[in-house]
Amino acid sequence: MQSLDSEISAAIVAAGGAISFEKFMELALYAPAGFYSTEVRAGRRGDFITSPEVGPLFGAVVANAVDAQWRQLGRPKKFELVEVGAGPGTLARSVLSAELECRDALRYIAVEVSDVQRRLHTAEMHSQSTLPTEPMVGMIIANELLDNLPFRLFVFDGVWQEAFVAKQGESFVEVLRRVNDAPEWLPQVAPHGARVPVQNAAAKWLASCLELLQSGSITIFDYCSTSSDAITNPWRDWLRTYRQHEQGEHYLRHPGSQDITSHVMIDQLQLVRQADRVETQADWLIRNGINQLVEDGRNYWQANAAKPDVKALKMRSRVSESEALCDPKGLGNFKVLEWHK
Ligand SMILES: C[S@@+](CC[C@H](N)C(=O)[O-])C[C@H]1O[C@@H](n2cnc3c(N)ncnc32)[C@H](O)[C@@H]1O
Repeated sequence: MQSLDSEISAAIVAAGGAISFEKFMELALYAPAGFYSTEVRAGRRGDFITSPEVGPLFGAVVANAVDAQWRQLGRPKKFELVEVGAGPGTLARSVLSAELECRDALRYIAVEVSDVQRRLHTAEMHSQSTLPTEPMVGMIIANELLDNLPFRLFVFDGVWQEAFVAKQGESFVEVLRRVNDAPEWLPQVAPHGARVPVQNAAAKWLASCLELLQSGSITIFDYCSTSSDAITNPWRDWLRTYRQHEQGEHYLRHPGSQDITSHVMIDQLQLVRQADRVETQADWLIRNGINQLVEDGRNYWQANAAKPDVKALKMRSRVSESEALCDPKGLGNFKVLEWHK
């Protein structure tokens, strides 16, 4: 396999000396030697812990939300749950092992672009690499997908310029270029050096999902911000890299060996369509029954503590999982956005 550095360098030469940051990010994460193409990244032994990787409780709450959506649609005979950016299938496993009222109607479709991760999916997950194309009734969900979609990067330098990436010696370096398709919503004036992501791929993804969905809902879970906050706050607050549970180096360093991720800009998604609901993950989990699931867990543990089986241990761990998922300084402060149709 061609090394990622050579693939990016070749793309730079082919483009006449520089590629957009968006293209750089796409190659760094999704080229054959890219960060997500080579290894499973989410989980305790990976590079970061996401809500499904905390334990099965998150999936049990998602299962409650799935049943609620199914009932709201009048209990259709065929109900699809499309999870996009499914990673190794951890959320799918938890949802499918929960007590689902809609089980007989449910078809779980796990969409994951990385072959390495898709190989870990089971037949029950109906694994595929791209979004379905047939109109569907059901739910589309995505946990920490949109923050990983490549974005254009703009920098204020008296005027807004776009960040491109060139090669200087052995290093990748940033060069700024004036472009004539900068978004109109960028403010006329900003602090010198201010940066903002322009998340066209995320907006396009939402537009495709809205088109695909005949009736039901789209729910995304992610760390979010607004474009105006991104402009006024230090860019390192919203543009991050991760490697083995630590913050990584500058985003142009070591492509393929560190994640590159941005807060999702809620205002840019809302340009596609206003969300029907925006709330914190903690509020969403509470609204969908996390407290009852934790209470059931506690009761089951107490009834079986003298002779605990695997189920009892899982039920006991709901208490600590819930604390992590609802932590106002951590996952609990993630945002959940819903669009209904
Ligand atoms: C941060 S991981 C999150 C994985 C999982 N949802 C979780 O919460 O643990 C993002 C995942 O989205 C996948 N991905 C990125 N772009 C995608 C796309 N357009 N379609 C499907 N999967 C995609 C990546 O390969 C990666 O596995």
